[in-house]
Amino acid sequence: MTLTIDGVSKQFNQTGKTPAIVLKDIDLTIPNGQFVSLLGPSGCGKSTLLSILAGLQKPTSGKIFLDDVRITTPSPDKGVVFQEAALFPWLNVLENVMFPLRKKMPKKQQTERAKHFLQMVQLGKFLEHYPHELSGGMQQRVSIARVLAMDPTLLLMDEPFGALDEQTRIILQQEVEKIWLDTKKTVLFVTHSIREAITLSDRILVMGARPGTIIKDFSVDLARPRKKADMAPLEETIMDLLKTEIAKVMREELSHASND
Ligand SMILES: Nc1ncnc2c1ncn2[C@@H]1O[C@H](COP(=O)(O)OP(=O)(O)O)[C@@H](O)[C@H]1O
Ligand SMILES: [Mg+2]
Repeated sequence: MTLTIDGVSKQFNQTGKTPAIVLKDIDLTIPNGQFVSLLGPSGCGKSTLLSILAGLQKPTSGKIFLDDVRITTPSPDKGVVFQEAALFPWLNVLENVMFPLRKKMPKKQQTERAKHFLQMVQLGKFLEHYPHELSGGMQQRVSIARVLAMDPTLLLMDEPFGALDEQTRIILQQEVEKIWLDTKKTVLFVTHSIREAITLSDRILVMGARPGTIIKDFSVDLARPRKKADMAPLEETIMDLLKTEIAKVMREELSHASND
């Protein structure tokens, strides 16, 4: 399954203001099974692009395809994980993961499948727990298990570990890498951590702001699991690139402010 983004632009029309062009002419092909990260200054349009790919928002122009099927609406073949886990508080862990499967297979199969993916994210002992009884990291694991259980062909993750502490983040990165190596799903992963992107990705797309475009496409040819020393040069290159981009955004903001 190949993901093709063909000339995607997104503009928000705001009353009384000039329209905000958030994404401009994004062209991109992501081959089956690739783990791709998206980095860029905050506000550059990462979440907007992800939600267009999820079918949650429509592009102003351009098209998206999974193989030759056009994406226009959300569907189970596109799994989405956000920063907040968004579990049903009145369902326990097992029921939360079973919920999206309820119309797809008999109850017994739902249970087995949900248990399988909960074991994969190390939550096999917490099936009867309710979301409020779990830490943020555990809740995020439940939401990852829930998405995986639906067997999406494309996994879209928007800063999934952004709300977690550093240690939990590192453990979940290792789990996600392991799951990805097992399942070889196509993943588009938004993060603001350069280290996280290099740890996980085959490829890193760096976005610039105003309007949002992809300014650099890096392939990461380092052995897994990745070692700090191997990652350092690319980390520095991307850091410099982002610094320049962020400085540009700040200069523009200042000049807008002085014009107002
Ligand atoms: N519904 C909306 N209406 C108007 N502007 C929006 C809307 N959604 C996002 N934006 C603007 O689009 C830009 C990109 O937002 P977003 O995609 O969330 O960026 P990122 O995820 O890279 O931080 C921001 O300037 C944001 O304010
Ligand atoms: Mg965002």
